[in-house]
Amino acid sequence: MRKPVLIGNWKMNGSLQANQALMVRLLPRLRLYRKSVDLAVCPPLPYLFQVRDLLGYTGIALGAQNASAFVSGAYTGEVSATMLQEMGCRYVLVGHSERRTLYGESNQEVAARFRAVMNLGLTPVLCVGESLDERETEQTSSVVESQIQAVIDEVGFSALANGVVAYEPVWAIGTGRTATPEQVSVVHQNIRGFIAANAPEASQDISEGLRIIYGGSVKPSNALDLFSLADVDGGLIGGASLHAEDFGSIAGSLAKASGILEGECETH
Ligand code: PGA
Repeated sequence: MRKPVLIGNWKMNGSLQANQALMVRLLPRLRLYRKSVDLAVCPPLPYLFQVRDLLGYTGIALGAQNASAFVSGAYTGEVSATMLQEMGCRYVLVGHSERRTLYGESNQEVAARFRAVMNLGLTPVLCVGESLDERETEQTSSVVESQIQAVIDEVGFSALANGVVAYEPVWAIGTGRTATPEQVSVVHQNIRGFIAANAPEASQDISEGLRIIYGGSVKPSNALDLFSLADVDGGLIGGASLHAEDFGSIAGSLAKASGILEGECETH
């Protein structure tokens, strides 16, 4: 059985004061679900140290929003997976659509970053998804498959299992326009089917074990419908992860959709 995972992507938001205030309100809410759901937050890099301390021993993981493909060297502005590991990160997003579109990260570059994260034993969260234009011209499957194929070419099928795939249609990110459960269901099934169809005999169980999560304007009002879909194993949450009530409620929906609610019995 795939354990659901919920990751908050703070993007370039926050301040020492705002992070502290958010975490004080968020942690008691998330603690209710930490046994049934893997939970993580990805603050901007300068705040990793602060948020790591605030997370303490809650069992809620720290993540980062990107990592270099290289271990060290003359790469001004980049941060290596080794550094993120030292800071206590467990998850690292790679290939977020904002990195692909605003900073020109290609499928191959994203794949190299995936490898660097994976090599450190951290969990790369591979973000894939089509633009509105690509959806309207029926290229969704081919775009998403080529984004995944680039990673398979780089690390191999079995290594894909070390990661999480996040399907995030670009047109649904930060727009308030969520993909419908039908649209999400089709793409998630296609991703699992694509991996099953192409994996070599020895890696056939990869597709069943791989966690495929959805991101793009997930909010308390639509989370349960999305997370109830058979092939949706969690969420990557942007805007709503900056609000403790919303992120807590979304975590509750994920726990409920997964039918694992024992965490709610906790009294602390
Ligand atoms: P959103 O962002 O929830 O604000 O749409 C999702 C993401 O970019 O990961």
